[in-house]
Amino acid sequence: MSDFQLNPIYEQIIDDLLQQQYSIADDFFSDNEVIALRESLLQKYEEDNFKKSAIGNLSNEKIIDAVRGDFILWLNEEESNAAEKAFFNKINDFVQYLNRTCFMGIQNQEFHYALYPEGTFYKRHLDTFQSDSRRKLSMVCYLNEQNWQPDYGGELAIYKDNNGLEVTENIYPVKGRMVIFESQLLEHEVKPVKQPRLSITGWLKTR
Ligand code: OGA
Ligand code: MN
Repeated sequence: MSDFQLNPIYEQIIDDLLQQQYSIADDFFSDNEVIALRESLLQKYEEDNFKKSAIGNLSNEKIIDAVRGDFILWLNEEESNAAEKAFFNKINDFVQYLNRTCFMGIQNQEFHYALYPEGTFYKRHLDTFQSDSRRKLSMVCYLNEQNWQPDYGGELAIYKDNNGLEVTENIYPVKGRMVIFESQLLEHEVKPVKQPRLSITGWLKTR
């Protein structure tokens, strides 16, 4: 721990997670990192590498448009380009910080690009599957270009409990915003979008 340096951005996220099970960090990645990731996503989308998303996992995967309409591409850290390397460097740094300061026991991670075409959404859900409870933290970083306008829709709605009363927090997918939340605790939803909506989304997992 001799080289330990307090990181104010990470500390804020940890505080928020402890207080309310989610955090919104608008400065997790630099502008240049976000622009590079956006370019990378768009290039791979144009090369037709994305697949219609499914729900469930492995043996149990189904494509159901009525639930989820985004297109995704899983990232492979070993085969990543410069933008993705910078992304994984920061994620790995964050994971190391979490494991050192909070003993979170994160062993693994998985991330994909996501693109929601106009008219699509993701109905209310929890990010854990019956057969896979290893997902601990969900992370979504928005790669939209200009500042997202309210009439574009596409809010991330997080459902939380306020003394037994359900309240909804609607979060707009503005460029560079990172939302982090407890995968096993918070139900959430992506409201229908009226503009293509771009993100990089993933999970930090325990063994
Ligand atoms: C998901 C998800 C939220 C978002 O991919 O599981 O809930 O804001 N994404 O894109
Ligand atoms: Mn989700």
